[in-house]
Amino acid sequence: MAQLWGGRFTKETDQLVYRFNASISFDQKFYRQDIEGSMAHVKMLAKQGILTGEEGEQILSGLQSILHDVEDGTLPITEEYEDIHSFVEANLIGRIGDVGKKLHTGRSRNDQVALDMRLYTRDEVEETDRLLKELLKVLLRIMEENTATIMPGFTHLQKAQPITLAHHMGAYFEMFKRDRSRLRDIRARMNVCPLGAGALAGTTYPLDRDYTAELLGFDGPMQNSMDAVSDRDYLIEYLSAMSTIMMHLSRFSEEIIIWNTNEYQFVEIDDGYSTGSSIMPQKKNPDIAELVRGKTGRVYGALMSLLTTMKGIPLAYNKDMQEDKELVFDAIDTTKGCVALFTGMLDTLTFRKDRMSDSAKKGFTNATDAADYLVNHGVPFRDAHGIVGRLVLYCIDKGKALDALTLEEYRAESPVFGEDIYDAISMETCVNRRLTVGAPGQAAMEQVIADYRRYLTDEKKGCIF
Ligand code: ARG
Repeated sequence: MAQLWGGRFTKETDQLVYRFNASISFDQKFYRQDIEGSMAHVKMLAKQGILTGEEGEQILSGLQSILHDVEDGTLPITEEYEDIHSFVEANLIGRIGDVGKKLHTGRSRNDQVALDMRLYTRDEVEETDRLLKELLKVLLRIMEENTATIMPGFTHLQKAQPITLAHHMGAYFEMFKRDRSRLRDIRARMNVCPLGAGALAGTTYPLDRDYTAELLGFDGPMQNSMDAVSDRDYLIEYLSAMSTIMMHLSRFSEEIIIWNTNEYQFVEIDDGYSTGSSIMPQKKNPDIAELVRGKTGRVYGALMSLLTTMKGIPLAYNKDMQEDKELVFDAIDTTKGCVALFTGMLDTLTFRKDRMSDSAKKGFTNATDAADYLVNHGVPFRDAHGIVGRLVLYCIDKGKALDALTLEEYRAESPVFGEDIYDAISMETCVNRRLTVGAPGQAAMEQVIADYRRYLTDEKKGCIF
């Protein structure tokens, strides 16, 4: 047991207490950020004359060697230390002697851990964004290939109106585009530096907080030292953004699961992304999509958990806050893993275009267009709705589609119908006459696709930080 704070104590911590309190098993994840933060702190201490130049150099090279050895595996991070901060400091003193004891001048673990977590999270926000961009590239490719692939659009999971596969995929493009813009907002808001806040009340040393903030790529120092050590808002925001990403992935997964059923057969999941059954030889299950859907609950759980942890914490730092780490780490790994796997599954998915267009043809998805035809010939919409409703009833009785009715059958309901009704209710017409912004018509879709292409290539719009 190696503790930084033994001086005031007269007996050893109980083993169980020690283990309950320790965080090294998980905070070792940000060893790199811890060392980088310390390096910036030391550079600032030397610049301010709080350490001599030589002391600064010695500490820096000691920290550099620790970083090097941890990365190449020669210095394993072991659980005999309470946390990653103690591990680094103890090793530093072990390597360079007493001068290493000066590293912690003007600093507390409270501002140190706040900094480490922020640095770690900032990288992860960027990585999450990068993965989402890969997903968007796959979506765009599918859209480009399918502006003429007709399928039924659904409301209430009932066939509603014909759309195209490009249009359907475009809805998800919008969702993940919003997710990226949320990440961008979070990245901008969280990019302030807690280092120099000390335990809660700043320090008496003449620290240059602007300088450390700049060295670490922040926009500036946090402006209240109590807030700096106890703010976890950015984690809650990130968990909320990840929950939304997972919600989107889960909806998409649900659709793929439905589309992959024997009844629909709209898609076929690649063998590499499906699994079999131990007993039923015919089975090919959509386990990846189901797992993504399932893991969504886990990320929501992390969000609820941290919100609940934070709600009763008085200012400033309290140990409860140590609970932020495992939750957030797990949510990040889960979300990133799901985005990456989902992208692979989508990229290898086969769309059964024949099944999709057959399905669109069979469900009276052109009934609205038949009514619009009558309206265009002077029939009030409410009457047109009634006429087509009766035609649909007739079709159901005869087991026919609307386009299979003879002109006589049409005219039996309304003399307004003419030969051109067949063209007016063909699936292609139904889709391609919908040309308002955001509608599935091919010409409207091409414009949106061109926008999406620009969005993915223009770095500023495309949200690469
Ligand atoms: N492991 C602690 C955490 O994650 C580090 C800060 C410790 N500070 C303290 N006063 N005990 O929050």
